[in-house]
Amino acid sequence: MSLDPRLLKPIDRYRLLVNAVVPRPIAWVTTVNAAGLVNLAPFSFFNGVTANPPVVQVCIAHRDPIKDTLANLRASGEAVVHLVRSERLDAMHASGAEYPSDISEADALGVEHRPAERIHGRVLVDADIAFECRLLQAIPVGDPATHLCLLEVVLAHVAPAIALPDGLPDPQRLRAVARLGGDHYLSADSWTVIARERRRAPVI
Ligand SMILES: Cc1cc2nc3c(=O)[nH]c(=O)nc-3n(C[C@H](O)[C@H](O)[C@H](O)COP(=O)(O)O)c2cc1C
Repeated sequence: MSLDPRLLKPIDRYRLLVNAVVPRPIAWVTTVNAAGLVNLAPFSFFNGVTANPPVVQVCIAHRDPIKDTLANLRASGEAVVHLVRSERLDAMHASGAEYPSDISEADALGVEHRPAERIHGRVLVDADIAFECRLLQAIPVGDPATHLCLLEVVLAHVAPAIALPDGLPDPQRLRAVARLGGDHYLSADSWTVIARERRRAPVI
């Protein structure tokens, strides 16, 4: 069966992507507004971009008025991107509800945070990974535009429980919760890890 995106309803164009590009890691993002209110929201159109310097991308869809995360990012140029295990799934999922701009999802949901070190943002206390980031670019894509936000990681925090001896994250222990289509998630309990030798070109 073939699907021509131009013939699909907007909701089905969305479902085409979120049901096919799975599992998606989730960026749980804090930003701070001019009044100091800490905004917290999850984004699964999230990934790494390049390592030199380390840059991640978060895609923030159109909303009228624009999503608080995008408004705060544009105004402050800063955000903290977190990865969390399935223990935090309920709070993460709940933070995706459309809270009014003057309510802090972090405070409403009792998610603890502390000051970031390199930026003026907030770091979630029990996140396994926290990337303190500065906004490089917010690129409008599509119509109405989603903003592809390129965020440079200026400081990374790795929880001791998932750190390798050199302090870098151990992905086997991180086991960050990921999103499937719609409101389904993949938890660490259902992972099967398959190891392979480092690939080499065959000797001909
Ligand atoms: C697991 C999950 C993943 C989400 N991923 C995205 C995403 O990639 N892009 C997006 O614009 N919204 C995404 N959302 C919806 C936003 O989190 C939601 O619109 C949120 O209210 C935005 O909050 P804000 O206005 O505080 O920025 C996601 C929601 C959930 C629960």
